[in-house]
Amino acid sequence: MQPQQKSVLCVGLVCLDIINVVDQYPTEDSDTRCVSQRWQRGGNASNSCSVLSLLGTKTSFMGSISRGPVSEFILEDFRKFHVDASLVTEHAQCAAPVSIVIGNRNNGSRTILHMNSFIVSDFSRLSIDSSLLSWVSGTTPVACCVVSRSNGSRTVVLYDTNLPDVSLEDFSKVDLRNFHWIHFEGRNASEQLQMIQQVVQWNSSVPPDQRVSVSVEIEKVREELYVLFNMADVVFVSKDVARNFGFESAKDAVMGLSSRVRPGSALICAWAELGADAIKDGVLFHSSAFPPMKLVDTLGAGDTFNASVIHVLSQGGDLQEALSFGCRVAGAKCGFHGYDEIA
Ligand code: ADP
Ligand code: FRU
Repeated sequence: MQPQQKSVLCVGLVCLDIINVVDQYPTEDSDTRCVSQRWQRGGNASNSCSVLSLLGTKTSFMGSISRGPVSEFILEDFRKFHVDASLVTEHAQCAAPVSIVIGNRNNGSRTILHMNSFIVSDFSRLSIDSSLLSWVSGTTPVACCVVSRSNGSRTVVLYDTNLPDVSLEDFSKVDLRNFHWIHFEGRNASEQLQMIQQVVQWNSSVPPDQRVSVSVEIEKVREELYVLFNMADVVFVSKDVARNFGFESAKDAVMGLSSRVRPGSALICAWAELGADAIKDGVLFHSSAFPPMKLVDTLGAGDTFNASVIHVLSQGGDLQEALSFGCRVAGAKCGFHGYDEIA
């Protein structure tokens, strides 16, 4: 198999994002209308797959979902009620009105957003190979996202607790000949570490042109993820994690955390409107941000950045080029809703 026919595999979360666009972030305990609402496939690895695919990189996603996302539920319900659904027209903006309620456990307040939308996105629409999805019992993670029109901010409340992550056993079944790059969104790190060891073992048994590069994203402030720092060729660390380590800039973060990554690996840190910095073998790289005319939607900016960087590096581009391209694409993405306009 030629390298150009191989794919980038992203391992991590897929969830449903119920995105409420509001003029202004709602006051807690208020009951307001949103300007618009949409359902969108979400999750860091899943979003990165969308972006990679839009950029023209062949991509696969590996993650867990439960049977019966909403669209399937609707069709199944038609069948259950012996209703022929072949003449059903899916209107992107029409469905039974639903309200999303964000309750606060601390004070019992509830913030209500009214919605009226329909599931629109799926993997096949973006030609993403989803054959590595695991069908397991549990609930597909759902996130209620509030995107503010005034400043593009995104506030996410994610329910992601009862689906098992991709296991070592699942990963062992992956035919590594199909991939030239595997990106892991740090989640079940102790198991992901063993998955990466499998890739390392594979790499030691094949000629150099068949080796698989590995990147990891350490986004959440969770001690157990930090074992991944020295496991990859490319490590993305978030500003949240960087701040948690006491760093106040991307440059300080990559310098301060560089001893945690393997020699020869790149450590990259994105920092919203300040762009991104990287370090490799002691050499620093920086790209400024490319702000859009108007900030519209910053949800998934980081996932867009990661994907764009991987897109360039997986094609043999250098780190400076990848960083600048990542900031350019992620900045542009902040200027529109979703990901479609990246293409
Ligand atoms: P996350 O979505 O994970 O919080 P960041 O906020 O660090 O990720 O953003 C990732 C990249 O997206 C940044 O490096 C930058 O290039 C771009 N970006 C994010 N927010 C903005 C912004 N307000 N203006 C311009 N670019 C932005
Ligand atoms: C964006 C995102 C959303 C999802 C949330 C999960 O980066 O992946 O799509 O709801 O983060 O943390």
